[in-house]
Amino acid sequence: MTDKFIADLHKGHELNMLAKTEEMLAAYDDVIDLSVGDPDMTTPAPIIEAAYRDSLAGHTHYTAFRGDPALRAQIVAYYKEEYDVDIADEEVFVVTSANMGMFVALFTCLNPGDEVLIPDPCFPVYMDQIRFCRARAVPVPTYEEERFRFNPARAREFVTEKTKALIINTPCNPTGACMNLSDMREIADFAKEFDLLVIADDIYTSMSYQEPFVPIISLPGMKERTITINSTSKNFVMTGYRLGWNIAPAYLADAMRKTNDLMVFTAPAPSQRAALYALAHRHELMPAVMDEFRERVCKTAERINAIPRLSVLPPMGTFYLFVNIKETGLSSEEFVYQVLEKAHVLLMPGTAFGAAGEGYVRIACTRSVEELTKATERIQSAGL
Ligand SMILES: Cc1ncc(COP(=O)(O)O)c(C=O)c1O
Repeated sequence: MTDKFIADLHKGHELNMLAKTEEMLAAYDDVIDLSVGDPDMTTPAPIIEAAYRDSLAGHTHYTAFRGDPALRAQIVAYYKEEYDVDIADEEVFVVTSANMGMFVALFTCLNPGDEVLIPDPCFPVYMDQIRFCRARAVPVPTYEEERFRFNPARAREFVTEKTKALIINTPCNPTGACMNLSDMREIADFAKEFDLLVIADDIYTSMSYQEPFVPIISLPGMKERTITINSTSKNFVMTGYRLGWNIAPAYLADAMRKTNDLMVFTAPAPSQRAALYALAHRHELMPAVMDEFRERVCKTAERINAIPRLSVLPPMGTFYLFVNIKETGLSSEEFVYQVLEKAHVLLMPGTAFGAAGEGYVRIACTRSVEELTKATERIQSAGL
């Protein structure tokens, strides 16, 4: 195949393991897929019905550029009620998903050659998005011994005069790590010392099992240097709605609007109405779903820890488990291929999330407890 008309940036942009899963799933007809971060649950029916009702009532158009005013007001109320953070309407910017929110933020803020510190392992899309902005992602390793928290003392070694921003993600995909108040304070001090923009990917906030989630914008002096990325994908099991929001100082929200205009104008109106309903009714709709995720990760972690040569930290957050496979003597990729072949279970190698993921595999507890049980039994029988 020719690549004659393709931009240089795309060349050498290999599909990573996340994108190869379709092929791997087709290998056997009874594969249990624990590779994807898209839960098996359908969005709660009242949210779907609200989107339908509001569409029939005429919410089928472009909305205001920064998002439906009713949704923006609900987002402002959400941060006040959940975290006692005051956000002004001009600081809210509705986008089509966290993925898009991150790209819009990076595209709006980065100049060619700028460097962005990212945790390693991390959600791999960050690296390519930064590269597509002609900037450079600088991975800062995180370690199991430090419960995979982003360690500012280590990050200092990676700061140069080109460092402009730092991405944090807590609760974290893929490690499940959660940073507590004192971790966040250290990160805030670090960002202020080096005058960095912080981009906080806060999309798993409801899945914080041990300690409450602390938004970095709630810490003194951080709102003016932070872009918060959020979405309904995980906290409201609404991945297909493609709806999120960025919170940023008004001048940055305004600049992001210009970037967003070039791509989509506005997020889909029905999805915005769905998000409005989801946020307003979160207390009645979501606790049962979050309890289900907690049960899945806790039970699966127990089973994994009972398998010789595998271990995992007690679940802290998200629906992911980052399993240490070092004692098997296999690389992450070898382990994944062997588990697929011998157990017909599809996992993600830790290296799909960065070099520091070697020696680990990610289990996404996005299937039922029964399927997760079957999968762990099969993995145990594979005897790796
Ligand atoms: C850490 C992280 N950020 C962003 C995303 C993208 O989320 P969205 O569906 O809102 O684009 C994901 C999806 O898995 C994720 O894990």
